[in-house]
Amino acid sequence: MHDIIQEIHRLKAEKNALILAHNYQAIEIQEMADYRGDSLQLSILSAAVKSPLIVFCGVKFMAETAALLNPASKVILPVIDAGCPMADMISGEQLREFKAQYPGSVVVCYVNSTVEVKAESDICCTSSNALKVVSSIPPDKTILFVPDRNLGSYVAKVSGRKIITWNGYCPTHQWGFSLKDVQDLRAKHPDHQLLVHPECDPVIVDSADQVMSTGGMVKYLETNDRVIIATENGLTDYLKHLHPGKSIISLSPKAICQNMKKTKVEDVLSALQDEEYHITVPSEIAHQAKSAIDRMLALK
Ligand code: 13P
Ligand code: SF4
Repeated sequence: MHDIIQEIHRLKAEKNALILAHNYQAIEIQEMADYRGDSLQLSILSAAVKSPLIVFCGVKFMAETAALLNPASKVILPVIDAGCPMADMISGEQLREFKAQYPGSVVVCYVNSTVEVKAESDICCTSSNALKVVSSIPPDKTILFVPDRNLGSYVAKVSGRKIITWNGYCPTHQWGFSLKDVQDLRAKHPDHQLLVHPECDPVIVDSADQVMSTGGMVKYLETNDRVIIATENGLTDYLKHLHPGKSIISLSPKAICQNMKKTKVEDVLSALQDEEYHITVPSEIAHQAKSAIDRMLALK
C-alpha cells in the first residue's frame, strides 16, 4: 500500500494533477486527496482550480459537475460505474412531462441529478444552499423540486413555499435510519446533539437538533464534542479519524452508500496512470446544464 501511495504522489506531481474527494469517500481516499468537501464546496473548487487533470473521487454526477464548470481541465472518475441511484430516478424526458403539467413553474434541481435533468432545470441547489436557492425565486411562483422528495419537503417546510416534489430519494438516507435508532441513541446519549442530513426521511429530519449538509457537519465538529450523526458512514468514519478525542456516534452503521465506496486506492492510481474514464458532457446540453449551476453559484 505504501508503494501505491508513493506512486500516486509521484504521478500527481508529474502530471500536475489534483485529487478531489467527497466527504463520503473511504478514509484512505480522503487522506490522499488535495481537497475534501461536500457537493457545493467541491463544485466551487472545481470551477476555481487550474490543474490540467482532476481525479474526482466521488460519484458520476459530481465529476460531470466538475467537467461542466471547468472545461479546461480533464476530469477523471476512477470507477466508471460509481453512480447515484437518486440521480437516476428522473430522466430529462420525465422532467419535460412534469413541467408540462405545471406551466409557469420554476424547476429547482438538486445537484444529485443527470446532466439532462440539469439542462431542463432553471436552477440547481445542493443540500447546503437549497433554502437560499428556493428563497431567491419570486414568491408567486410554484416550484418543482427534483429528484429528492425529502430535501424538497424539508425546504418547503422551512421556507413556507409551495413546492411540488418529484418522488425520488437516496436509498442510503431513506432506509438507513429508523425512529427506533433515534429513540435508543437519544436515551443512551442525552447530552449529544443529533445532526441529520436533509436527504433522510422526514421522520428522522423532524427529530433532529440540527439539519445540515456533510460540509455543515464537518464545520460543526470543529467547535462541538458530542454528536450523533445521521448521514452516510464515510463522513462519520472520517470525523472520528479527525477528532479521536470527541464522541461521534453514527445513528446507524447500515447507512453505507455502495457507490461512494467503490473507489479504492488502486483505482486512484489507475486513474492517474491511464486517465481512462474521462468525463465529458454532450455539447448540445452542456451550456444549459451549466447555466442552472451558474445561477446557483451566483447567489450571494
Ligand atoms: P452533501 O455533500 O451536499 O451534503 O450531499 C450528500 C450527498 O448525498 C452527495 O451524494
Ligand atoms: Fe446518491 Fe445517496 Fe450515494 Fe449520495 S449517498 S451518492 S445521494 S445514493
